[in-house]
Amino acid sequence: MIQLFHVYKTYGRHRVALEDITLRIEKGEFVLFTGPSGAGKTTLLKLLFALERPDSGQILIQNRNVGRLKESELPYLRRTIGFIFQDFKLLQKKTVFDNVAAAMQIAGASPAEIRRRVSEVLGSVGLEHKKETLPSMLSAGEQQRVCVARSIVNHPTILLADEPTGNLDADLTADIFDLLKNINAKGTTVVVATHDREVVSRVQRRVVALKHGKVMDGGA
Ligand SMILES: Nc1ncnc2c1ncn2[C@@H]1O[C@H](COP(=O)(O)OP(=O)(O)OP(=O)(O)O)[C@@H](O)[C@H]1O
Ligand SMILES: [Mg+2]
Repeated sequence: MIQLFHVYKTYGRHRVALEDITLRIEKGEFVLFTGPSGAGKTTLLKLLFALERPDSGQILIQNRNVGRLKESELPYLRRTIGFIFQDFKLLQKKTVFDNVAAAMQIAGASPAEIRRRVSEVLGSVGLEHKKETLPSMLSAGEQQRVCVARSIVNHPTILLADEPTGNLDADLTADIFDLLKNINAKGTTVVVATHDREVVSRVQRRVVALKHGKVMDGGA
């Protein structure tokens, strides 16, 4: 359902970020993009979300050519994809509930539907009791769970997560990956970028290893 054919991406004139990436990710798969800093993990996720465009090559998501979508077609693509950003922050002046609800308001859901779904999704990450709390009153792990809740509230078919456990300790990291595995078990395709080798060995899912913008292992 996600296919890349000979994808190249260069920033500016010389900074080659991705070189000849050919990759196929099936519907319902759980894939880890790994590799050292600068390998191209974030760039690859951004191409899938159409935040960046490839210089050449093709990216197909559900048979749509994502690299060539018009601006007007992007909202539809992004409604079907959840994204947890590497440096994504919660809105500090809004409650946990409002942070998650904002994603549904943008998608045009009704207030009743928003109340129901936000409670459900906060329940699934174990934070329903914190819904009136401000992010600054939460632990790092709780804040990251709010980010997970926000990314799945619109029932995405694909979830992209960039270093979702970057600043968390081993226990909290395990919690987040349990959540991501649960989301995957319900049918969402999950793609996670991480440079953390310990995470990779513990999560035990398909690994696509990147280095200097190329797939070293796990492609196809
Ligand atoms: N906006 C940008 N402008 C110029 N060069 C960029 C930009 N974003 C990334 N790069 C370069 O592209 C290459 C790949 O970067 P990318 O962020 O995809 O790596 P990464 O694997 O996610 O690294 P990290 O583990 O540090 O997050 C690097 O050489 C980086 O310097
Ligand atoms: Mg990155």
